[in-house]
Amino acid sequence: MDADAPLLLFDSGVGGLSVLAEVRKVLPDAPVIYAADNGGLPYGPKSEAEVAARVCGLLGRMSERYRPRLICIACNTASTIALAMVRDVLAVPIVGTVPAIKPAAERTRSGTIGLLGTAATIRQPYVDRLAAEFAADKRLLRHAAPELVTAAEARLRGETIDPAVIARAIAGLRDQPGGAEMDTVVLACTHFPLLHDELAAGFGGGVAFVDGAAGIARRIVHLTQGQSFARSHPDFALFTRRDPDFTRLAPALASYGLTQIEVL
Ligand code: DGL
Repeated sequence: MDADAPLLLFDSGVGGLSVLAEVRKVLPDAPVIYAADNGGLPYGPKSEAEVAARVCGLLGRMSERYRPRLICIACNTASTIALAMVRDVLAVPIVGTVPAIKPAAERTRSGTIGLLGTAATIRQPYVDRLAAEFAADKRLLRHAAPELVTAAEARLRGETIDPAVIARAIAGLRDQPGGAEMDTVVLACTHFPLLHDELAAGFGGGVAFVDGAAGIARRIVHLTQGQSFARSHPDFALFTRRDPDFTRLAPALASYGLTQIEVL
């Protein structure tokens, strides 16, 4: 294993940066490629077949070109749909991101958990299986919040977020039967922790959030134990489509240590 072989984190957009932030804390020396399929963003409204085809095809190309030591699918939508398929076709270790229902079930006192994700994620059998296995005795309220994906992308470009977008996402859970008892919310889309402060202010102090990022970072540490890391060039962001917004996104990317932008 070359010391400069990168970790490749993949998302449809900037959401996976919430995972990268946790990876940086535990593996500061690891070379990273942050890959965003901005040409396919958003994944949430797409069909399972479309997401699976994009994710398998793109990760195949990226893995041939950049030879990562490990791939992290830093996207709940892509992982809940395509994780098994990607593992079938690529020889590199793959770490997925799945809704943190287990820790939420362990944390809740009221027994009512909210799940905020994309439309594609919240309907996945993968989520049904997690709910049956870890939260069978809990009430799990699901809500698709595609507007939060758009808001998180806008925020990283330095734009102001419309508070009504946050309010609508919260109401989508609160207004369901039992919503008033909810004390734990799973942020089941990697874009959503980027809006943590707005969501926390909107839900109020009685609600805690859980997401998978820290657990994923620990898993990556485990899978790379004993390996050495050295950067032979600066970490970079890799996009699937050239975009005039790159200049507005560059400062946010740089704050995550991604000082260059490349296009696949
Ligand atoms: N960040 C992605 C996730 O975790 C999805 C956003 C999207 O492309 O709709 O599900």
